[in-house]
Amino acid sequence: MIPTLEWTPEGVRFLDQTKLPLEETYVLATDYQQVAIVIRDMIVRGAMAIGVSAAMGVALGIDRSTATTIPELTTEVDEVCRTLAETRPTAVNLFWGIAQVRNLYTSLAARDTPIPEIKAQCIALAQQLYDEDIANLKILGANGAALLPDEATVLTHCNAGALAACGYGSALGVIRAAVEAGKKIDVFADETRPFNQGARLTAWELVHDGIPTTLICDNMAGYFMSKGRIQAVIVGADRIAANGDAANKIGTYSVAILAKEHGVPFYVAAPFNTIDPDTAHGDMIPIEQRAATEVTHFQGKQVTPDGVRIENPAFDVTPAKYIAGIITERGVLRAPYTESIAAAAQL
Ligand code: MRU
Repeated sequence: MIPTLEWTPEGVRFLDQTKLPLEETYVLATDYQQVAIVIRDMIVRGAMAIGVSAAMGVALGIDRSTATTIPELTTEVDEVCRTLAETRPTAVNLFWGIAQVRNLYTSLAARDTPIPEIKAQCIALAQQLYDEDIANLKILGANGAALLPDEATVLTHCNAGALAACGYGSALGVIRAAVEAGKKIDVFADETRPFNQGARLTAWELVHDGIPTTLICDNMAGYFMSKGRIQAVIVGADRIAANGDAANKIGTYSVAILAKEHGVPFYVAAPFNTIDPDTAHGDMIPIEQRAATEVTHFQGKQVTPDGVRIENPAFDVTPAKYIAGIITERGVLRAPYTESIAAAAQL
């Protein structure tokens, strides 16, 4: 299993994804402020991974506190949660992870639970969320694997793999499950400019697992679809609105339109906590704008002229009408998504 992140007695240990695939190094966050930096700087990234990282960050903040009274600790917990919530805006899993530990803290504090007991329970919950993430993705993977033909080439964008989660992955979890079921799956991975999650991370992860993988530049997807070389597209999501509109890595929307034009099914694979019932439709999803240097620089070297204006939105929204199915651990949801999402929420 790829060790994306791990709770240790010393702190939370992260595989440094900014260094992959050239270096496999680890960063140890020994306090919650360091966890916030690790998330903000994308040492850990991917919606599910940052959700559990944020939960571990809150647990770490509580564990490291020297507060001796509940009111004192509550003030600190507010600050911990605020700091972690400000790291990245788009993936709803981040806010979900914070809320999970905070809600437990609030209920324990309301019952005047001794502080050492609060600490132990918050750490245990963060570790439980880690285990549940992997368990849910294995079920999701099996649900999605059934959708793929016995022989297929599947295009994916960005990295929705073990590295974007505690393990296994969502889009890549479906691919892993199909391969485990004996299907012959080839993967086409978009490089995913500007951060190159496809080129650096998806390619690394799939080669590591021995799954046949071809890396293509983002602007090649239409060519391969027009030649009949792609049988399905599967991507992850950072936030799915209540009507099924799905935010994912910038460029996903273009792939979805290409898929529609070429009659290729376009699936979104995401655990149910990526669905945000408080976001009615995709226009309401906050889109992170990242540093211009991600576009202007390559491996630390400027490759663009001085003075050119830069835009760098990190995500886009694919309208629900382009999505053939949303693959979750609660089943494969189909249009109309407002109804299927609401029904799955009752399960
Ligand atoms: O900016 P990133 O690398 O965190 O973006 C990640 C993605 O867009 C993934 O496709 C998404 O999180 C789904 S996989 C959990």
